[in-house]
Amino acid sequence: MNPTHPAFRACLLSLAVAALVVSSISVARVHGKDDPQTLSTFMRKKLDASSLILEGITIEDPKLVSEGADVLLEMSRTEIWNVLTDEDYREFNREFRSSVRKLKEAVGDKNFDNATLQWMDSVKACVECHKYVRSQRPVLKKQ
Ligand code: HEC
Repeated sequence: MNPTHPAFRACLLSLAVAALVVSSISVARVHGKDDPQTLSTFMRKKLDASSLILEGITIEDPKLVSEGADVLLEMSRTEIWNVLTDEDYREFNREFRSSVRKLKEAVGDKNFDNATLQWMDSVKACVECHKYVRSQRPVLKKQ
């Protein structure tokens, strides 16, 4: 077909539109907000990181604890973690991150008693944030 033919142009245009639609769908998937399965899969990775931390504390392996803590710190900075953006949610997140950072410092000093306390604080922060998230369910986009 002649490239200047109107039918050829129309065809190119519809291909471009299709490509745009497909790419915006995959962006939504990566961000996960429109896909509860992806949000859920992302959130459940916190359990793996937590298990690594617990293992590290119990066998006194600072590397495992740091590794798990880094995963949690990294995750809690992402857009998908921040499904809620209000001030209360941010405050829960700050408290959580602060406990996880103290946990990292404690294992850095090989102080596993302190690490245990800091991990308990972190777990309390997990629970507190979830309580808050449940109270905000109607605001959550995926509902
Ligand atoms: C600052 C808030 C916040 C903190 C802190 C937090 N979470 Fe979450 N978590 C969420 C949100 C938001 C969801 C998604 C809520 C939903 O699915 O309704 C979630 C979901 C989950 C889920 C359910 C995933 C599913 O759908 O099956 C698990 C499990 C989870 N979090 C574990 C943890 C663990 C473990 C910690 C601590 C190490 C933690 N979370 C800390 C906000 C938080």
